[in-house]
Amino acid sequence: MDLDAAGSGANPPAPAPLTILQLSDLHIFAVASERLAEVPTTRTFAEVLAFIDAQEPFDHLVLTGDLAQDEALSTYERLREMLGPRLDRTWLVPGNHDDREHLRRVFADRAPATGPLTFAFDAGEWRVLGLDTHVPGQVSGRLDPDQLGWLDAELGAEPARPCLAFCHHPPVPCGVNWLDRLSLEDPYPLLARMRDNARFRALACGHVHRESECRVGGARVYTTPSTAFQFGDRRDTRYDLLPPGYRRFTLYGDEFTSEVIRLPELRFPPRL
Ligand SMILES: [Fe+2]
Repeated sequence: MDLDAAGSGANPPAPAPLTILQLSDLHIFAVASERLAEVPTTRTFAEVLAFIDAQEPFDHLVLTGDLAQDEALSTYERLREMLGPRLDRTWLVPGNHDDREHLRRVFADRAPATGPLTFAFDAGEWRVLGLDTHVPGQVSGRLDPDQLGWLDAELGAEPARPCLAFCHHPPVPCGVNWLDRLSLEDPYPLLARMRDNARFRALACGHVHRESECRVGGARVYTTPSTAFQFGDRRDTRYDLLPPGYRRFTLYGDEFTSEVIRLPELRFPPRL
């Protein structure tokens, strides 16, 4: 017992805040010189990692899909190599531009042996979940009934713990009208859980290569910039000329803040 604190009636010190960084839509290649929309995506991902290393310590790194543009085994091996010493704090879910089995094979120590590539871990008072919305061969995503059952079991356990979840496909429109139609199919079961379960505090997605935020009941839905290039809000303005970025969650007890951080400059503007 801390006699000084007991004697003075002071509150115990608050636990240190925890930081979770979300990086999304890497679209990297096995060969670093390859470009997508004229952007050397492997290089921009490396620049984001270097920026983070120079800027801020973090507790967890969550990658929310579209990790490998070519979905090749060698690209996931390259990703693993690039993550280096960050690997033991890294969690990942696939996007539409991913190969679930290649991902599972290369990240066997970070992924379930069978089934969807979900994750779950504790961060302070929080339970952090990853949902796998990948459907082979299509751009839009889906959560199958088994995974919704897994989510229910997670939300039903330890009722005092707030939950932060991650997945690739957003369940709400995010302002990229041509891509919003190719997002999470049948989003209502997930939205109902966000609306009805007070534990479900936030969901952070990728897919739209764009920052957005909205509310579903008492929960927030976020989308996060790509580490490669950013989409505009209309098909005829396909790209926004904004630098690569990522999202930071800071967990303070059962409260949190979230903000987007971008590299200081756009070095590789995307082009059609
Ligand atoms: Fe993407």
